[in-house]
Amino acid sequence: MCGIVAYIGPRQAYPIILKGLKRLEYRGYDSAGVALLNSGLKVYKKKGKVADLEETLVGKDLHATIGIGHTRWATHGEPSDRNAHPHVSANGKLSMIHNGIIENYGQLKQELENKGYTFSSDTDTEILLKFIEDIQINNKSGLEEAVRIALKRVVGAYVIVIIDEDNPDTLIAARKGSPLVIGIGKGEHFLASDATPIIEYTKEVVYVNDYELAIIKSDELILKNLGNEKVTPFIQKLDLELAAIEKGGYDHFMLKEIFEQPDTIFDCLRGRLDAEAGTITMAGVQNHIEQFKNANRIIIIACGTSWHAGLIAEYIFEELCRTPVEVEYASEFRYRNPVIHKGDVIIAISQSGETADTIVAIEKAKEHGAFIFGVVNAVGSSIARISHAGAYTHAGPEIGVASTKAFTGQLVVLMMIALKVAIEKKTIDQKRYLHLLNELQELPDKITLMLREKDAIRAVANKYKDATDSLYLGRGYNFPVALEGALKLKEISYIHAEGYPAAEMKHGPIALVQETLPVVFVATKDSYHEKIVSNIQEIKARKGKVIAVITAGDEIITKMADDVISVPEADEIVAPVLSTIPMQLLAYYIGVAKGYDVDKPRNLAKSVTVE
Ligand code: G6P
Repeated sequence: MCGIVAYIGPRQAYPIILKGLKRLEYRGYDSAGVALLNSGLKVYKKKGKVADLEETLVGKDLHATIGIGHTRWATHGEPSDRNAHPHVSANGKLSMIHNGIIENYGQLKQELENKGYTFSSDTDTEILLKFIEDIQINNKSGLEEAVRIALKRVVGAYVIVIIDEDNPDTLIAARKGSPLVIGIGKGEHFLASDATPIIEYTKEVVYVNDYELAIIKSDELILKNLGNEKVTPFIQKLDLELAAIEKGGYDHFMLKEIFEQPDTIFDCLRGRLDAEAGTITMAGVQNHIEQFKNANRIIIIACGTSWHAGLIAEYIFEELCRTPVEVEYASEFRYRNPVIHKGDVIIAISQSGETADTIVAIEKAKEHGAFIFGVVNAVGSSIARISHAGAYTHAGPEIGVASTKAFTGQLVVLMMIALKVAIEKKTIDQKRYLHLLNELQELPDKITLMLREKDAIRAVANKYKDATDSLYLGRGYNFPVALEGALKLKEISYIHAEGYPAAEMKHGPIALVQETLPVVFVATKDSYHEKIVSNIQEIKARKGKVIAVITAGDEIITKMADDVISVPEADEIVAPVLSTIPMQLLAYYIGVAKGYDVDKPRNLAKSVTVE
């Protein structure tokens, strides 16, 4: 959460920073700001989106070849002009942007107040900056040294970037727990929370590690640890094209990403699954196959939509591999005193690879000697790097805040892992194994067919867009799909939506059922079909409105439901990939019909780098 951008070099910094902030807006859009150095420090900030900031800056002198910019997701202090970053030191010379949370801000603030400092914002960032300034003044040390001393006192997570009026040819940056990428150009450097603001200028990047400090000039990058020892920067080549982060003719990134799913699933399977040969090639799994085969338990840790992928994986791993699975919210797991044994396999699922709670949960499991397998979308991200092994989802950059293509990619990767382990463990027979490989291979074509239903789904969306509440129900593999459907609707349309196991609905939510309540059933043909038909009848008997996602040709449910959305027939194990897509489109079209900014829903952020 929060996006940071900085530039130093021969070009004008402002246009680069502004464009970068627009790319990073998915990380937060409560306020935005820039600080530029050109014969003095100039700071401009504004509540609202980056475009609001841009508008207020028209006509201003923004010339500068060094600058920093920030787009905020509020933690300490409401979204407002004064809480927007960059913040400025008491002497007006230093300016800083920050992504993360300083947990001991209260203590630091008290110390500073005792020395007479006052604060013009409610942020932890301003406190950290003034703490650095105070050390700089008292120790008579340079800024670099002051930052190092200050960070040793800081509890929490941060990426910070500081500019100094007295030293206008240097940027100082540091990281712990939040992401920082440095792009290396010819006589210039670009800093950002992810690579998207950088790729059009250079493909050479350095991912800064925790507890590292970067001292950056136009033509020099020095990395040091907090002990003041130099660290050799590891320069990597970005495997990312500009087109992948642009809308490409779609109205929204979310719609583009939904429609990309035939390709992203194809990319995810490519080079791994060979249905004819009956093989799945995944080096990360193969190299650790004994760990998977002998695991007493698999613990899946994740947050948000990724947690829903974990729930589906629980059903699949238990069915195919006969290994007990637990699915944990990373935020709960990290603070419990979980029982973790050496032989446990932890699967951490994350689109961004930067979710703070998931990172700390992994570290905790590692301390207990568990083997960590990462299922991650963002290549080179923190979770990809701290896992012992892993598999990428290869869905490409996901920009819409509500996760779509990353989720289906996660499902496909998890299905492949389960199948590979099951065949090695001999807990699946060859015939079913080959059948499921074929089913996976057919997914891209089936998704293409599914997407042709978009107008029918839009019609359903328009019919129910004014609902204030809704229920999403499913059983078995489709129960987590119902949870994901409800989450999508909440995120994008702000309609209250509750996901429930269809049978459990009788123990409470049925009290809500009346004529005005839309109930979405995920009811594709599987081993629970008859049971879910009964659940639909229970809702209809109470005059609820039933929208059912069914397998094409299902006459029984078609007759009972008020509206149906068909998906192609598929084995129940792979069916969640297909039944999820109508959930995504339904939420999308309702959000659009209500006039909301579906790519940037209120209060949300794509990458949650605070706990
Ligand atoms: C945020 C995003 C969700 C995402 C969740 C977990 O809440 O808005 O879309 O599912 O974080 O993120 P991760 O990157 O770890 O999958």
